[in-house]
Amino acid sequence: MANTPADKKASGKETVFSGIKPTARPHLGNYLGMIKQAVALQESYQCIYGVVDLHAITKPQKPEELTQNTRDIVLDLLALGIDPERSILFVQSHVPAHSELAWIFNSITPISWLDRLGPYKEETAVNSQLNQVGILDYPVLMTADILLYKATCVPVGEDQLPHIDVANEIAKRFNHLFGKTFDPIKPLLTEAKRIMSLAEPKKKMSKSGDAGISLGDSADEIRKKIKRAVTDSGSEIRYSPGAKPAVSNLLTIYGELSGKPVADIEKMYAGKGYADFKNDLAQVVADYFADFRARRAELQNDRVYVSGVLADGAARAAAIADKTLKEVKAKMGFLM
Ligand code: TYM
Repeated sequence: MANTPADKKASGKETVFSGIKPTARPHLGNYLGMIKQAVALQESYQCIYGVVDLHAITKPQKPEELTQNTRDIVLDLLALGIDPERSILFVQSHVPAHSELAWIFNSITPISWLDRLGPYKEETAVNSQLNQVGILDYPVLMTADILLYKATCVPVGEDQLPHIDVANEIAKRFNHLFGKTFDPIKPLLTEAKRIMSLAEPKKKMSKSGDAGISLGDSADEIRKKIKRAVTDSGSEIRYSPGAKPAVSNLLTIYGELSGKPVADIEKMYAGKGYADFKNDLAQVVADYFADFRARRAELQNDRVYVSGVLADGAARAAAIADKTLKEVKAKMGFLM
């Protein structure tokens, strides 16, 4: 079949890898920062996407919720347009090479590269109970995720940039110690690299709290949340993240989902108030995800198809990952 990942590799196309943690249904930030790009990149890259359950367990997870969240994210990604004919979609723990390469990379990663990272410092400052080694070590596992596939392009939101920096440092150190094996990794960011909370526009939209729009929300819930979203002082609909963080965030969402440039949207609402703007935005968001909701409802009943996609995805991912792991181990002198 033309256009399979193997064909793309053969034609010299770069490899894309990205992952999403199954800790809750994805929110609008996940969609605009990562998933939307991941879908578009399938056109011209070899794409490999992981539902990264080994990352999810770095914070306590109830077993039944981990299972359900993993199933949910797989359905969400398929319904949003990740196409198993064009990409490899798999669950991270189904490919044991991820854990093994992470362990190997642990042996060449100084702790000081990890304990200075913002996300680690912030998480442990907020909750001192979160002191598991996994929270510190998480960027090393991310490095393994990316390098197992020799991916050079990683679509992500802005919060992941420090982790990509660490991945590049680890790749460089490995190359230096054992010979050139990995190329530099480029993060791919969109205009929506940091979608903010609808309630506190100076904070990132995150999975926790109701200040985000979940892809599990109904059209009515979406409308209610957008109408409740905080706005800034002054009534002008103008993009200015410093002066008007709330409206700028809403304009970014409007632009990304309608395909209209933000400057055109500003003109459309010149002289109008927040109520008109929010009403229309609520409709844009609710409409945008209507097909997704229908497609997801169909897929939900097709367990056989979804299990088949994941078995096939794991086999195809493992074939690439095992080859890289073997190369790494041979270079390091493991008895083969
Ligand atoms: P996760 O599951 O927290 O988030 C998935 C993706 O969504 C992006 N994102 C956002 N983008 C814009 N605005 C926001 N408010 C927002 N919130 C989240 C994230 O940047 C991410 O791209 N460590 C990763 C998962 C991962 C990974 C990898 C990513 C594991 N291995 C290898 C890339 C490559 C994470 O926790 O993402």
